[in-house]
Amino acid sequence: MKHICILPGDGIGPEVTGCAVRALDTVTDRLEMTTAPIGQAAYLRTGSWLPDDTMRMMRNSDSCLFGAVTSVEEKTYRSPVLAFRKDLDLYANLRPVRTTVQTPYTHPIDIVIVRENTEGMYTQDEVHEAGGVTTRRRVTSAACERIVRFSIDYALANGRRRVCCVHKSNVLKESDGLFVRTFREVMDRHGHDLAREEHLVDSAAMKLVTEPSRFDVIVTLNLYGDILSDVAAGVAGGLGFAPSGNIGPTHSVFEPAHGSAPDIAGKGVANPTAALLAAAMMLRHIDMAPEGERVERAVRETYAAGDLTVDVGGRLGSDAFTEKVIARILAKVQRT
Ligand code: IPM
Ligand code: MG
Repeated sequence: MKHICILPGDGIGPEVTGCAVRALDTVTDRLEMTTAPIGQAAYLRTGSWLPDDTMRMMRNSDSCLFGAVTSVEEKTYRSPVLAFRKDLDLYANLRPVRTTVQTPYTHPIDIVIVRENTEGMYTQDEVHEAGGVTTRRRVTSAACERIVRFSIDYALANGRRRVCCVHKSNVLKESDGLFVRTFREVMDRHGHDLAREEHLVDSAAMKLVTEPSRFDVIVTLNLYGDILSDVAAGVAGGLGFAPSGNIGPTHSVFEPAHGSAPDIAGKGVANPTAALLAAAMMLRHIDMAPEGERVERAVRETYAAGDLTVDVGGRLGSDAFTEKVIARILAKVQRT
């Protein structure tokens, strides 16, 4: 049995994680899933957006599946997402971006963004001084080294051929310079079987839109990865299709990359695809690759059969789409 902590959160979080849990229940009976509060619901109950009990449950699980939380404009608010990434040392944010459905607005893309997930701009070190605000951005060689190593290991394990380091070292000569130098060194040591590239972040953003197929694996710093993964998700059909894995040496949290979308919460129209694909990534990570493959394939086949969600011009709401996916998983299970 594997223990999974489910963190539904706010807005559409509970709806999409609910869909993912149903798919997980269909594909395996080897998961024990426990739900823990996070975000607004947790705050109303306990006075904390990320209660200690929730952190304890996350820490004691084999992996976690998180929905989304709504950010609050309050001085004391600290994003629970950033908090659990830091507290569990989830240093790698793995964001595969692959076109699931062809629409007039999507382009074929199949890339993986590996984003440093613990430092850079996200150390949130900001001070008011001298009539403005100074933000300090931290880049360490240890973090650069392990994120580059992660991207190489991922590429080699998943049949990827090229790793591209995305940076802005023409301006940030010291910090991004350290990242690029570390990339070269670690590639020299461990990446002989891979082609390597280096790209400035602004130009990479444009190329992701105009020529997405030139990329394979991208390794980049925290804020660049945040922005580029949304750009790539847009090219692939929108955030409804973008799963994300936060991975550390001992813990992991998988999530749809989208937010809590309060405007559509409770309407039953949220696209559960990103949550379903995040669940598939989680299964692979906890050594249940065949089950993960089954979930992902069922999602892709559902779209290929023309059963589309509302966000891409179809008619299926969250539940109806999930039922189609579940039917496909079951059909496969019976045939094998
Ligand atoms: C993401 C989100 C988060 C981030 C927010 C919610 C703090 O945009 O997972 O990409 O900036 O990392
Ligand atoms: Mg983001």
